[in-house]
Amino acid sequence: MESSFFFEQYPVGSMQNFNYVLGCPSTREGASFDPAFEPQKAIDILEKKGCLLQAVFLTHNHWDHIDGLPYLIKRCQPTVYVHALDQGPIQEMTQKIHLVCDGEEISWGDIKIRVIHTPGHTPGSVCYLIHQEILVSGDTLFQGNCGRCDLPGGSARQMFESLHLKLKRLKDQILVYPGHDYGVKPVSTVGYERGHNPTMMAACYEDFVKIP
Ligand SMILES: [Fe+2]
Repeated sequence: MESSFFFEQYPVGSMQNFNYVLGCPSTREGASFDPAFEPQKAIDILEKKGCLLQAVFLTHNHWDHIDGLPYLIKRCQPTVYVHALDQGPIQEMTQKIHLVCDGEEISWGDIKIRVIHTPGHTPGSVCYLIHQEILVSGDTLFQGNCGRCDLPGGSARQMFESLHLKLKRLKDQILVYPGHDYGVKPVSTVGYERGHNPTMMAACYEDFVKIP
């Protein structure tokens, strides 16, 4: 079945965060990724395209990625997709939680979304691969860098393995949409990052941890 969907990136807040919306016009379903700071924007963008916000996909549970979630829960009662290891604060907000697992393929609207568990920044960090074209990479992979591993629950070893055993194996042309605008461009590709991002180019874990 031919899938048609729209996906939009927009900056929010003062910490260079990116938020994303995904919509499936044929089913009128809409989703927000990592809603923070300006949650009404997700509703507005989706409504303009005739879609209703019914799902929220979280890449991890840091406050600058979930700050807008209570607002969306109150307004739209979405199903919240999150990994079990990062569900802590979410459980207190809603019972409509879908716990995602590594390798899971979520059928959403006309679209397939594959979950890739990428611990390292947090234990339950995930990336979402939408329709084999778009990777929502959260704070795991940025343009030119990776997420920090020195916050509670972080692990440099796990980050290295997530980058090198999982993300590096994806197809070159897949678009990378990160959780923050920390690079020289807002969107990259797996192929570009594999060839230019020092954290993806490190030959071994020992080299990886030496990167400033
Ligand atoms: Fe984070």
